[in-house]
Amino acid sequence: MALVADVAAGDEGDWACKLALLKEMASGMPALDAISFFDGTGSMSSALRACHLRTASYDILNDTTNVHNLQDIATEAGLQVALVNCARLRAGGLAWMAPPCSNWVWVSASKHRRSIAQPLGDDWCNSKTFHHNQIIRAVSIVARACSSWRVHWVIENPLSSCMFQFPELKAVILSSNAKEASMRLSTFGSESAKPVRLVGTAPWLPRLGYMAAVLPRQTPRRVLAWRDEAGRATGIPGPMEQSAAYPAQFSTTVAKLQADMVLSRNNKFLAITTLARRFLHCQHWAVQALLEFL
Ligand SMILES: C[S@@+](CC[C@H](N)C(=O)[O-])C[C@H]1O[C@@H](n2cnc3c(N)ncnc32)[C@H](O)[C@@H]1O
Repeated sequence: MALVADVAAGDEGDWACKLALLKEMASGMPALDAISFFDGTGSMSSALRACHLRTASYDILNDTTNVHNLQDIATEAGLQVALVNCARLRAGGLAWMAPPCSNWVWVSASKHRRSIAQPLGDDWCNSKTFHHNQIIRAVSIVARACSSWRVHWVIENPLSSCMFQFPELKAVILSSNAKEASMRLSTFGSESAKPVRLVGTAPWLPRLGYMAAVLPRQTPRRVLAWRDEAGRATGIPGPMEQSAAYPAQFSTTVAKLQADMVLSRNNKFLAITTLARRFLHCQHWAVQALLEFL
């Protein structure tokens, strides 16, 4: 099932068929409320579970077999596992995605040679750049499938990342009418400023941006990357990688927004079904009274 090739070739009929097949494959499995892709330390999946949302974690680090790459989204098998899990998500559920950013930001621009105008970088001669492009191709497919299944998705990356300009991803963002919000993770307790951009279809995204804007601004305790006098980009590798982990307050805020949305949707559904039942009961009572009268 060469999904990547099909989507790249724009084979719409086949794509619809494969989505139906994936739903069929997932039909015997328990439904999910959320998936945290590129889950790393598990901060996001733990926060979602703490809000009573049935959540799956997906990350290459979870892949203990190391044989079939079942949680390596850049492989065909890993992408299929990702898609089958998305097919388990209830409508209105959440696919949160935090793809690795090291190959998309200005600090490493001398290696990947990406820019806003040239987001693919030098992938024809650099295998690392090519690999990261494959990851984002897969992310675009996951986002596209989620939109088809009325599942919300959110992609997080640093504010300076060229990732959102990647052609396949840009196309999904435009066709899904995605919203966006940006904020500094230091507002939520991160050591460094960590300005991030969130793009996706979750209806609460603008509200999260507003919440971050009104929270007291924290002075970052650490600077992890800068340009020297000659204009060369420098970063501190170890702490930069550690800074990828979300502060607990950030994950908890996201999880609560998603949980509140699900709860209010369920409450609305309950109210509508109760009203409908009462209406049908009244109708039944009126018919009975009419029959007795006649
Ligand atoms: C930016 S970090 C996300 C960290 C996360 N936000 C946290 O709170 O810990 C990116 C994650 O992507 C995972 N990753 C990298 N390449 C991957 C791949 N091909 N498939 C699945 N996960 C991958 C890494 O293991 C890492 O945990």
